[in-house]
Amino acid sequence: MEDRHPAFRRFGAALGDTRLIPLPGPDGGARLLGKCEWENPAGSIKDRVAYALMGDALQRHGDRPLAELRVIEYSGGNLARALSLLCADLGVTARFVLSSASPRSLLDVLAERGARVDLVDKERGFLEVVGTALRTAAEDDGWTLLYQHRNPANVLLHEATTGQEIIGQLGGTEPAAWVASIGTGGTLVGVLRALRTAFPDVRAVGVTPAELPYGSTEPPNGRPKYAGSGGMGHGIRQPFVTLHDPEVEHHTVSYPQALDGMAEFRRLTGIRIGSSAAANWLTACRIAAALPPSHTVVTVLPDAGTPEEWEHLGG
Ligand SMILES: Cc1ncc(COP(=O)(O)O)c(C=O)c1O
Repeated sequence: MEDRHPAFRRFGAALGDTRLIPLPGPDGGARLLGKCEWENPAGSIKDRVAYALMGDALQRHGDRPLAELRVIEYSGGNLARALSLLCADLGVTARFVLSSASPRSLLDVLAERGARVDLVDKERGFLEVVGTALRTAAEDDGWTLLYQHRNPANVLLHEATTGQEIIGQLGGTEPAAWVASIGTGGTLVGVLRALRTAFPDVRAVGVTPAELPYGSTEPPNGRPKYAGSGGMGHGIRQPFVTLHDPEVEHHTVSYPQALDGMAEFRRLTGIRIGSSAAANWLTACRIAAALPPSHTVVTVLPDAGTPEEWEHLGG
């Protein structure tokens, strides 16, 4: 794959090996470590997933010309940003289904890269965003659906890269807990599977927005939520997470709490993190507060936030 598609190889070579840095934590509690995923080429953890899903799509496409490959995917934002960069470099047509709440800065980047965008009314929730992409692909088989919630390439990539990097960076230190926001659950579950090979007792902690938690039986809603994550509504649970349901603890963070967390983290460290990173950090602090200082809690900082969020927070 890498030999046939140099743009794919270049994107892959720039991925990962992100830093695992100490984070501020509660006095007297466990030590916190966070993986800096904004260091990926398009600025988020979803760059890894874009690479994995496109690798799978390219393999399925075989020897046919790349100009004939047309991919479609739904996204909370970061996956579309990553895929648009990779597809533009490869010369592959890309189409994204997004919520109408998507920030202008994202829509501008997608337009610049020549991607086609379909917006779904934000009041209908992310479930309808997913459903629209699935229906479009079912109605026209000229579109190849990448399907991040079900494509095993998502989890396998996190297991093989994000998880293995963390194991190496821990240098033998046993983590007490692994904390990650759930969008597809690919990060939470993929890294968990890798960590469990080295540290069988690590706790798994999933984080979702208080406005629509994991597995919520409420219908989807258009309330603002922290980025890239959330329950689906109607009791639907993300397939990757369902496989580990008995062992995953669930926490929630509201959007106002996540925004406060972004501002507080920046005040403490000088570093800009996104709203899901803030949700992960706040949850990791809760877990760490109940553990002794000899323990370590690991989490992930998926991105650095959008210009719109930072503008809202005063720059
Ligand atoms: C900012 C952000 N945080 C967290 C996630 C959740 O990642 P995953 O799909 O691996 O659960 C995403 C996914 O799009 C994201 O964009």
